[in-house]
Amino acid sequence: MCGIVGYVGQRSALDVVMSGLRRLEYRGYDSAGVALVDNGGLVTAKKAGKLLNLDAELAARPLPESHTGIGHTRWATHGAPNDRNAHPHLDESGRIAVVHNGIIENFAALRAELEASGHEMQSDTDTEIVAHLLHDELKRTPDLSDAVRAVCQRLEGAFTLVICDADHPDVVVGARRNSPLVVGRGEGENFLGSDVAAFIEFTRDAIELGQDQVVTITPTDVVITDFFGEPVETTEYHVDWDVSAAEKGGFEWFMLKEIDEQPQAVADTLLGRHSSDGRLQLDEMRLSDDELREVDRIIVVACGTASYAALVAKYAIEHWTRIPCEVELASEFRYRDPILDRSTLVVAISQSGETMDTLMAIRYARRQKARVLSICNTNGSTIPRESDAVLYTHAGPEIAVASTKGFLSQVVACYLLALYIAQVKGTKYGDEIAAILQEIEKIPAGIQRMLDEGDQVRKLATELAGSRSILFLGRHVGYPVALEGALKLKELAYIHAEGFAAGELKHGPIAVVEEGLPVFVIVPPKGRDQLQEKTVSSIQEVRARGARTIVLVEDGDDDVVPYADHVIRLPKVPTLLQPLVATVPLQIFACEFASQLGHDVDQPRNLAKSVTVE
Ligand code: M6R
Repeated sequence: MCGIVGYVGQRSALDVVMSGLRRLEYRGYDSAGVALVDNGGLVTAKKAGKLLNLDAELAARPLPESHTGIGHTRWATHGAPNDRNAHPHLDESGRIAVVHNGIIENFAALRAELEASGHEMQSDTDTEIVAHLLHDELKRTPDLSDAVRAVCQRLEGAFTLVICDADHPDVVVGARRNSPLVVGRGEGENFLGSDVAAFIEFTRDAIELGQDQVVTITPTDVVITDFFGEPVETTEYHVDWDVSAAEKGGFEWFMLKEIDEQPQAVADTLLGRHSSDGRLQLDEMRLSDDELREVDRIIVVACGTASYAALVAKYAIEHWTRIPCEVELASEFRYRDPILDRSTLVVAISQSGETMDTLMAIRYARRQKARVLSICNTNGSTIPRESDAVLYTHAGPEIAVASTKGFLSQVVACYLLALYIAQVKGTKYGDEIAAILQEIEKIPAGIQRMLDEGDQVRKLATELAGSRSILFLGRHVGYPVALEGALKLKELAYIHAEGFAAGELKHGPIAVVEEGLPVFVIVPPKGRDQLQEKTVSSIQEVRARGARTIVLVEDGDDDVVPYADHVIRLPKVPTLLQPLVATVPLQIFACEFASQLGHDVDQPRNLAKSVTVE
């Protein structure tokens, strides 16, 4: 939530900052703004709405050439999304400019204190107080970094701050607590960004910034300390994707590109993780086999789509490892006083690695002595850094707000983890694990087929684009797929969409079924606990009440045909793997449906990609 960029070097700071903001706009698009150091002063431009509005403002009122600057794209928390509340915020002398991501929880008290001492606020934001606090602090110390450290010690909550100062033209200072910030290292230039996408066009060499750290960049130097000025150890890394991965590459939307990348994303998540005879190697995971053998309970915590990946994974984890597994929304987890101990493995799933609810859940779990393993797509992000162990998904950057390849790769990573625990604990024979892995290895081809057959789904979306309500039904692993199908449609098309467990239908939800209501039904493969037969009955029940049924069913299963208004065929795969193919048409449907309504598919209203507030 909120994208932040800082630059100091030889290039045009405005160009670098604007290109960074373009790549970070997925983090928030309520307003955007920049501040540049210019000839002993600061110049700024800021506009409510998407970055396009700021582009227009800059075209109408160009800013002077500068080599030091900061920028921000906002997801509003404190104060309406208007020009006045857009970042950067300045102190009253116009010397200091601040951009911020997060929520300063003690801002009301600090604001009252500042106002009592004569400061006049120009905005309703929590951010502006930082500029005023720095103004006062710089009367006590001439050093901007010192002043930032002193101010950070007074702030509570979550904040990433990036600051420039007219009196220090070759310096940009950043600070972080609970919200993300990374450093990009260049030759004669350095960068700050909420994530590496901000500077990937210029450098792939990055430095992780830890909790409660302050970084000072000049064209030639990067100095990192804690909030008390003590030097800290840093971790440098090389980003393993390049700028093309963060561009649309000819697709109309990032979401379409990311849907299309799913066969590769799944293949990359599997790559190098098992030998040809089916023995799993998860060497990078950081948990020893002895530690895994001690695990007697697994709790998966996640939010949104990642929580649906967790719900899918629960079936496989319990089936393969025989360890009880619970799935909990990260935002609820710590508030129910869960019983945890050293033999509990808490698995946190997060594409971004920055979701605040999930981060707070793992911090709680570690305080209660549970072991925490994260499944994450973003190298160097906070959740894996603060976990005991990590399994990266290797799906490449996901930029569209609606998660697609993130979801499939999370399910696959969970499956690898479950199979690995089964291998370590001996709850599955080696040949059984090898056979399952062989089936998983075929999944990219199955996904590719669903992509190739996407036109029928797009046509259906065009036909149904006038619908105001759509239901999704599934059983077993098909239930979380139904939830995911509904979430995609809600977030992109802004219509009523709900996922139900098909067996629950008769306990209430069937009352909402009426003539013409589109109902998607994911039919489990035949031969497992009569789930297929029971789902076929659910289809009949909604059809009898006038629903228009869209049935996702495996090749060769014709039992549903008499009750289906539309059949979407799925490749035959084992039950536990069906979500990996069945989710794809639902993603395509939601994307096309929203496009038909003229919505911005990549940046749906009210949302942001990475939710860094609780
Ligand atoms: O980055 P994370 O995986 O932690 O994000 C969790 C959710 O915020 C995310 O999946 C959200 O629900 C997506 N926008 C859904 O498409």
